[in-house]
Amino acid sequence: MLKLTLLKPLLLLFALFFLQSCSLCTAADTISIAHPIKDPEEIVSSGQTFKLGFFSPGNISDNRYVGVMMNIPSQTVIWVANRDRPLRDSSGFVTVSEDGNLVVMNGQKQILWSSNVSFPIANSSAQLLDSGDLVLRENSNGRILWGSFQIPTDSFLQDMRLGGNTNNNIKLTSWRSPTDPSVGNFSFGIDPLRMPEFFIWNGSKPYWRSGPWNGNVYIGVPGMSSGYQNRFELVNDKGSVFFTHSFFNDSASMYYVLSSSGILLENILYKGSANSKITWTSLRSECDVYGKCGPFGICDPQHKPICTCLRGFEPTDKEEWDKGNWTGGCSRKAMLQCNMNNSSVHNGKPDGFLKFDNVKVPDFADLVEFLKANTEEQCGNLCMQNCSCVAYSYNRGIGCMHWSNGIIDIQQFSFDGADLYIRLTFSELDHVKGKRKQKAVVASIVSIGSVFIAISAYFVWKCLTKYRGKASRMGVLLDNIDQPKIEELPLYSFETLTKATGNFDLKNKLGEGGFGPVYKGRLLNGQEIAVKRLSSSSTQGIKELTNEVVLISKLQHRNLVRLLGCCFEREEKMLIYEFTEV
Ligand SMILES: *[C@@H]1O[C@H](CO)[C@@H](O)[C@H](O)[C@H]1NC(C)=O
Ligand SMILES: *[C@@H]1O[C@H](CO)[C@@H](O)[C@H](O)[C@H]1NC(C)=O
Ligand SMILES: *[C@@H]1O[C@H](CO)[C@@H](O)[C@H](O)[C@H]1NC(C)=O
Ligand SMILES: *[C@@H]1O[C@H](CO)[C@@H](O)[C@H](O)[C@H]1NC(C)=O
Ligand SMILES: *[C@@H]1O[C@H](CO)[C@@H](O)[C@H](O)[C@H]1NC(C)=O
Ligand SMILES: *[C@@H]1O[C@H](CO)[C@@H](O)[C@H](O)[C@H]1NC(C)=O
Ligand SMILES: *[C@@H]1O[C@H](CO)[C@@H](O)[C@H](O)[C@H]1NC(C)=O
Ligand SMILES: *[C@@H]1O[C@H](CO)[C@@H](O)[C@H](O)[C@H]1NC(C)=O
Ligand SMILES: *[C@@H]1O[C@H](CO)[C@@H](O)[C@H](O)[C@H]1NC(C)=O
Ligand SMILES: *[C@@H]1O[C@H](CO)[C@@H](O)[C@H](O)[C@H]1NC(C)=O
Repeated sequence: MLKLTLLKPLLLLFALFFLQSCSLCTAADTISIAHPIKDPEEIVSSGQTFKLGFFSPGNISDNRYVGVMMNIPSQTVIWVANRDRPLRDSSGFVTVSEDGNLVVMNGQKQILWSSNVSFPIANSSAQLLDSGDLVLRENSNGRILWGSFQIPTDSFLQDMRLGGNTNNNIKLTSWRSPTDPSVGNFSFGIDPLRMPEFFIWNGSKPYWRSGPWNGNVYIGVPGMSSGYQNRFELVNDKGSVFFTHSFFNDSASMYYVLSSSGILLENILYKGSANSKITWTSLRSECDVYGKCGPFGICDPQHKPICTCLRGFEPTDKEEWDKGNWTGGCSRKAMLQCNMNNSSVHNGKPDGFLKFDNVKVPDFADLVEFLKANTEEQCGNLCMQNCSCVAYSYNRGIGCMHWSNGIIDIQQFSFDGADLYIRLTFSELDHVKGKRKQKAVVASIVSIGSVFIAISAYFVWKCLTKYRGKASRMGVLLDNIDQPKIEELPLYSFETLTKATGNFDLKNKLGEGGFGPVYKGRLLNGQEIAVKRLSSSSTQGIKELTNEVVLISKLQHRNLVRLLGCCFEREEKMLIYEFTEV
């Protein structure tokens, strides 16, 4: 009798302890109304990759913040909840409130931060995932109501999405200082109204840009093409445009941090390592500062001084320029012939274009519709015909870019980058390189342009394959290029296309591209298409072709015409695009 009465509470205690510890072990990555965490407790994601808990930045202040950190010995904070309202002591806790929101409260039960879901579900819990995303779930069905990846702080993790649309644009925002996580002056993301490329802004002013994304690399980030482990991807989701990145080596992970001084840092963390290493930064020289040399100036870190005016231009304000204040930029020395009413000026000779190799193309590009200009030659001709077009560049992955105003933020690289053609008067071209060379430049625009693209693309492709496996630097995926999965693209039969284009009737011909004619057609289901029929004499080999196909199909920019499929039949090679009125 005695034994039993003693045993009962003991058993009960034991059972309680067992239950408690087990619920702890299964719920170690979860916070709920029944399982809040109190400073200095923490939860750890199931794969032990991330933890959520309390911290004081650099351990130097008494302010306490709740954040997601990498689960490594050194303090590596990747997300902060109450960044603008710190806890003043260590009495804070994180819980799920009565209305179902995840909240940070101080000892007086004042809410300092809330997940702010507007239609809260009373029964929910928060879980820290192995991706680093902290999500709030509805308990009854597991539906995700909110996630910290939707409101990032200064870190861009794998599989996170930056971008969106004008109403909801997800960006990184820097800390105010290395010891103050409140919102700083710098942000990092994309401008949904422009071509897909990354910007760092200082307040509302651009401070750095990556150069446009060509489906493979950001063309203002030299060296990107030599890496392949870290893969960026452009995602077009119901009209919203996002960038994500992923790393396909399980022994390490890659992430980007926008520092409080406005520099983007690429970090790698090897499994089992105590801290991460910086592998790349956005500020490698002063030339990386947006618009350093002003309009029509070009920045070359190898040159002294770093800023020069483009050929045919001179400093707008010579005095300031010579003092090293380059922001005023440069102006044209002689007016363009196409701007003159008197055709005998410049001896009636037309303007031409001067080519600049390996440059970061300027900001504010206008993308020309793909069907209007799908070769470098067409791109140049169109620019020539329009006097307000002052420069152009053609990139296989992007298409034809034109610039019409003061061009700004050009940088000279020693490798990579793009070719940029600037409109100059005939006399300026003459002065630059002797008559013969000049002729060659003009000629290459009109005749060998397309062949050149195919050949250079081939060599680029060769080079890329050769450099696969070298160190990553804002690296990219090249696997797809190496082994294009042409079989994954919809195949159209020759017969279908013959019917759609009225047997390739001349009256359906839209124009002649670099590799052959382009026809308009209509499929049986009514969809209008454009068919690029590659001439059998085309120098474009199957590898370049598939390369182009892969590049185009990966590129889902809204201004570009979508590639629908291809046709390889009876010695024919054809690409089928969506048709849009131009
Ligand atoms: C902060 O303090 C904790 C606990 O004392 C320690 O583990 C951690 O390494 C410190 N972090 C820094 C950045 O000094
Ligand atoms: C939550 O909403 C309140 C009121 O609308 C706002 O003041 C607060 O900043 C919001 N908090 C967060 C974390 O968005
Ligand atoms: C909340 O949901 C869990 C799991 O569905 C359930 O066990 C629990 O009883 C619910 N609590 C309330 C207060 O409804
Ligand atoms: C942010 O910019 C403002 C001016 O716009 C400046 O006064 C302030 O010092 C800047 N803050 C930091 C942290 O650089
Ligand atoms: C950011 O802008 C502020 C205000 O315009 C300026 O004072 C500061 O120097 C800028 N920071 C950098 C790094 O350019
Ligand atoms: C992953 O990275 C490590 C370290 O760089 C390297 O040793 C290993 O070969 C890589 N694994 C794969 C599958 O690429
Ligand atoms: C730099 O030059 C521009 C004119 O080119 C002038 O407006 C600006 O005030 C100058 N800035 C400084 C810091 O002198
Ligand atoms: C050309 O003529 C137009 C209208 O006659 C005039 O507005 C313009 O200023 C003239 N341009 C030049 C360079 O003389
Ligand atoms: C056009 O310019 C030439 C050379 O500058 C000049 O000789 C000629 O008189 C001008 N003609 C007109 C109609 O202005
Ligand atoms: C010339 O270019 C400007 C600026 O890109 C554009 O607005 C205009 O429509 C073009 N004109 C023609 C005739 O294409």
